[in-house]
Amino acid sequence: MRMVDIISKKRNGTKLEEAEIRFFIENYMKDEIPDYQVSALLMAIYYQGMDQDETALLTKVMVESGDEIDLSPIKGHKVDKHSTGGVGDKTTLIVGPLVAAAGIPVAKMSGRGLGHTGGTIDKLESIPGFQVEITNDQFIRNVNQYKLAVVGQTGNLAPADKKLYALRDVTATVESIPLIASSIMSKKIASGADSIVLDVKTGSGAFMKSLEDSKRLAKEMVQIGNQLGRRTIAVISDMNQPLGYEIGNANEVREAIHVLQGKQVEDLRELVLELAAHMTILAGIYSSYEEAIAKLTILLDEGHALKAFKDFILAQNGDISVIEDPEKLPSSSYHIQVSAKQTGYIHEITADTIGIAAMHLGAGRAKKDDQVHHGVGITLHKKIGDKVEIDEPLATLHADQEDVQEIMELIRDAITIQDNPSNKPKMIYEVID
Ligand code: URA
Repeated sequence: MRMVDIISKKRNGTKLEEAEIRFFIENYMKDEIPDYQVSALLMAIYYQGMDQDETALLTKVMVESGDEIDLSPIKGHKVDKHSTGGVGDKTTLIVGPLVAAAGIPVAKMSGRGLGHTGGTIDKLESIPGFQVEITNDQFIRNVNQYKLAVVGQTGNLAPADKKLYALRDVTATVESIPLIASSIMSKKIASGADSIVLDVKTGSGAFMKSLEDSKRLAKEMVQIGNQLGRRTIAVISDMNQPLGYEIGNANEVREAIHVLQGKQVEDLRELVLELAAHMTILAGIYSSYEEAIAKLTILLDEGHALKAFKDFILAQNGDISVIEDPEKLPSSSYHIQVSAKQTGYIHEITADTIGIAAMHLGAGRAKKDDQVHHGVGITLHKKIGDKVEIDEPLATLHADQEDVQEIMELIRDAITIQDNPSNKPKMIYEVID
């Protein structure tokens, strides 16, 4: 078999066979196929696409390129949740304990973020003492006992995806739905859960800006998961503005604790209940969506999810006094208000720009080795649909530097105020299964 023939076959729009996909991935991993040939194939895939079987096969071969986590020592049906990434997305911090409170084991492997704010692991590390590096045995023990544990990614999961992603990044081939879908799903499948709920974001702060593209990506990922033996569903949710009011690390943990304590942060709570409902239905403990929402609402409102959060934090050495008093979480030296220059209604809060502003404050990483500052970030005081008076605060910047003039300008640019009333965007667009 020759790589050049595989490239020309795909360039001409012909479907690749399993043996050809295997040949290309396995030999690329052995450095026996050069980057320039793989780049040419990626570009051919970008233009010609891949059908469902090809995409599922590519995913399977990428999973097989590394370790597959064995979660079988954990009792019960393991359900994972994955978000395609957004600004202010702290859902894992609430969904995890909520689903755990319903009795479903959540064995979560999370990454550190590269981008606007930290990943779930960075956020959790803003809790003093919290240990993300626990042994595999401890991880299994904690999930069996407390139904929830979160660790930094261990093992060598889908190394072929890592190598291909680095090449896609520099060859303008990231934005291909089959390549994105196989990349995300290879890591999810290697993580070992029985079922997967995907939170596919759509809108200005999402990887997929249009609803149509988000639906295509969601459908593709759901089909891959189901074809490879994992029951998978996708929720398409709004990312036309940040989720909730807090963007950063410690302040996102604070907001998550507030929701676990019963605070009505409308959009965040709606998304959390939706994702948790699908996870519990897939795990087979509730039989209908209505029942799941009703039971999960009780678990949230009666403090059972908060209790599960405390048990989980304590089991990983975290200081749970911050849960009783979230004001004890890390904070910043300066708190600077950005106020409205006119009276009107909020029409837009471009999530991407708010995310970039948070990154400039130090809440995220521009490069892999950057340090995240846990106490910095942004608090929004208004969301789309709200009325605002001139000079009223739109946002507060939590900064470790005094000069934040440019960041204030970014926030003002991100928030559009107009005279006419505006509608709140809907949170859940569609569920794909
Ligand atoms: N996230 C991934 O893990 N892979 C992609 O290709 C895009 C986003």
